Amino acid sequence: MEGRDLVRSVRAVGSAGAAQGVRTVRAAWRRWRADAKGLPSRGAERARVPGPVRGVEPGPGGGIVRFTRSDLRITVAVNGAVFWGWDGAAPEPSYALAGRCPEPDPRAVLEPDKDGGWRVVAERVTVTVSRHGAVEVCTPGGVPLRRALPPRWWEPVGGGGAARWTQRSEVAADARFFGLGGRASGPRLRDGTYRLWNTDPGRPFGPGDDPLYVTMPVELVVADAGTHLVFHDSSWDGSVTLREGAEGAGSGHDRAGTVELRMDGGPLRCWVVVGTPARVLQVWAALTGAAALPPAWALGHHHARWGFGSEQEVRRIVTGYHEHGLPLDAVHLDIDHYDEHRVFTVDHDRFPKLPVLAEELRRDGIRLVSIVDPAVKAERGNTVYDSGTAEDVFVRDAAGRVVRGVAWPGETVFPDFTDARVRRWWGGLYEERLAHGFAGFWHDVNEPTSFTAFGETTLPRSARHALDGRGGDHREAHNVYALCMARAGYEGLRGLVPEERPFVFSRSGWAGMQRYGGTWSGDVATGWPGLRASLSLVLGLGLCGVPYSGPDVGGFDGSPSPELYLRWFQLGAYLPLFRTHAGLRAGRREPWEFGPEVLEHARAALVERRRLLPFFMTLAHLARRTGAPYVRPVWWGAPEDRALRDCEDAFLLGDGLLVAPVLTPGTERRAVRIPRGRWHDTATGRVYEGPARVLVDAPASRIPVLARAGAVIPVRGADGGLELEVWAPARGRTGGGLVVPDAGDGWDEPEIERYGVRWEGRRVVVERERETGAGVPPYPVRIRGLEER
Ligand code: GLC
Repeated sequence: MEGRDLVRSVRAVGSAGAAQGVRTVRAAWRRWRADAKGLPSRGAERARVPGPVRGVEPGPGGGIVRFTRSDLRITVAVNGAVFWGWDGAAPEPSYALAGRCPEPDPRAVLEPDKDGGWRVVAERVTVTVSRHGAVEVCTPGGVPLRRALPPRWWEPVGGGGAARWTQRSEVAADARFFGLGGRASGPRLRDGTYRLWNTDPGRPFGPGDDPLYVTMPVELVVADAGTHLVFHDSSWDGSVTLREGAEGAGSGHDRAGTVELRMDGGPLRCWVVVGTPARVLQVWAALTGAAALPPAWALGHHHARWGFGSEQEVRRIVTGYHEHGLPLDAVHLDIDHYDEHRVFTVDHDRFPKLPVLAEELRRDGIRLVSIVDPAVKAERGNTVYDSGTAEDVFVRDAAGRVVRGVAWPGETVFPDFTDARVRRWWGGLYEERLAHGFAGFWHDVNEPTSFTAFGETTLPRSARHALDGRGGDHREAHNVYALCMARAGYEGLRGLVPEERPFVFSRSGWAGMQRYGGTWSGDVATGWPGLRASLSLVLGLGLCGVPYSGPDVGGFDGSPSPELYLRWFQLGAYLPLFRTHAGLRAGRREPWEFGPEVLEHARAALVERRRLLPFFMTLAHLARRTGAPYVRPVWWGAPEDRALRDCEDAFLLGDGLLVAPVLTPGTERRAVRIPRGRWHDTATGRVYEGPARVLVDAPASRIPVLARAGAVIPVRGADGGLELEVWAPARGRTGGGLVVPDAGDGWDEPEIERYGVRWEGRRVVVERERETGAGVPPYPVRIRGLEER
């Protein structure tokens, strides 16, 4: 047993009693034994490379290039996305794709290239295939963005079993890497190896911990020549080793950046999208699906904690919010409201009248959110277990026995969410939650986590899964388990409450999870590094197509200092999911627990968040329709600006705001790197011209927020109605912005309103731009930043 495993098992014993500790030891042995028997042993392997080209078979959007020992299928889709798959791999079946694959581009044809290679020339991209199977993706101008060298497989001698493979690629010397799901040490991913296996780190994590709960083989690469996104569509365990390149300072001896992907199995296929960051994310969202639109309340402030022991405690918190004049939109109930930690149950002693409580809160505009764990206590008499057993929904091992693991309630079994039948069954269970008055759902421990005293804290790799009719094992199903659980919850809720937008967010997930909801940081460690990791996760996930996420404000464990708590709170107020949460033994996280000064400043952050709600709602609609995340790196509109590319301590909120959180203690002023154009400090009124690095005030009362000159920000006015806050453009310049008015819930498709801003003499004029001509905005307009300072 390794030291860390031992610590984990001791913790498990300490936290849930000696019996639980014994269970985790037993579960670890069971898991080990199951895999010893149920997994094919890795015997002798033979390496294979594609070999020389033999011929081609043109087809729509590209065709098939035949090599001596493999075939390569290449298709350029009408939206410019490039697909390639080796050994006959096609885009489907895929858990990431949203359904229909984009049509092949009829104008893209396979034609001979130099040196016996082939190429496909399309409007937005050129792909060349060398004689030995290197695939190069270039801009329309012919500048290479990525060169994937011929892949290599290791196959079991005598056939059978999965082939491992590696794919090494080169990118420009100046390229920077982002993405790979939720990573604590980003957003810019430094040299190192990042694993692709969704993992509960088993303790509060910080920037050095990897992998975490959401991993994805999605890389976003930004270089002078252009931005591209690569998605290797295999859900198997693997790793990505990144090495940034180096420029030879004009010597002509640049060293390319390299990416080495190693996978334990699955198809060798990938998608590449090139263009501006906005276009790349748009095409990515078209491939993997539009992000679920949250109801308006989910864009407000949420308060959670593990350990709200009773209805009285919940009331005490809500009253505290009221008495201190703090806006609150949702309260989350963790596993302690369950009856002995069993999912889809309620402890009626401590929560005797949950529907009444939920109704009272709802009248005050506060929703109740329920945690939902996938593990079901294996005990006759537990309704969910009995019903699941009757329906045969639980994961089985290679010998056909139901797999038993350990979770909070003790010995548990795990639904196989990769089976449509099981998803339907699970989706129906939310009816019980709705009857208690819950309005939103927080999917947890779905990596899936099974506590084991040693070895991996998940199901045996040999455990069988339906994989939607294909059949397979946990090696392939693990990374998509939570994605499929999110689908089950989302689709169940669509059926049960068709008129409302489901609100689901999930600790684990995979490419495409945005279709069903968002995610959160998981158990981020309390401390300044954890605060930084919070921002890294949100930015990285957004660049992988998951726009809605946020951290446990204040950190999951321990007690933050008042200053750290406040800075976390102020950052959280500008992130899509704004939720305070903490573990069972952590200190308090209510804003009034940190003294009058913190309370006052936290109130200001809450009030500002509420004022910005229409802006957040607009960003949610834009994320859904365009794939652009709410929270964007500062280089979003200027990826060619290298200094911006390396800036990790600030972000853009939509197009209009630049938020510069305070991530270090004792800060009263901080440097901010601003993109091109004019920026107004929204608090001091001072004006800055970018690109530049400027020093701005960052007193305890607020974090710096700059508005782009000409920006139109929809806000909530004093009477609760929508207003436009417009930041004066620079003289002689124009501005504008988009607004999506939203009903708060439901499925109406509001029109995207477009506003233009310009100077007319000494006045700033704001007009609604429509095809029929310009008109007066239907909302009050407030022009800001007129007096230049
Ligand atoms: C996990 C979750 C955390 C939750 C706890 C108890 O650690 O990440 O948010 O509070 O489980 O359910």
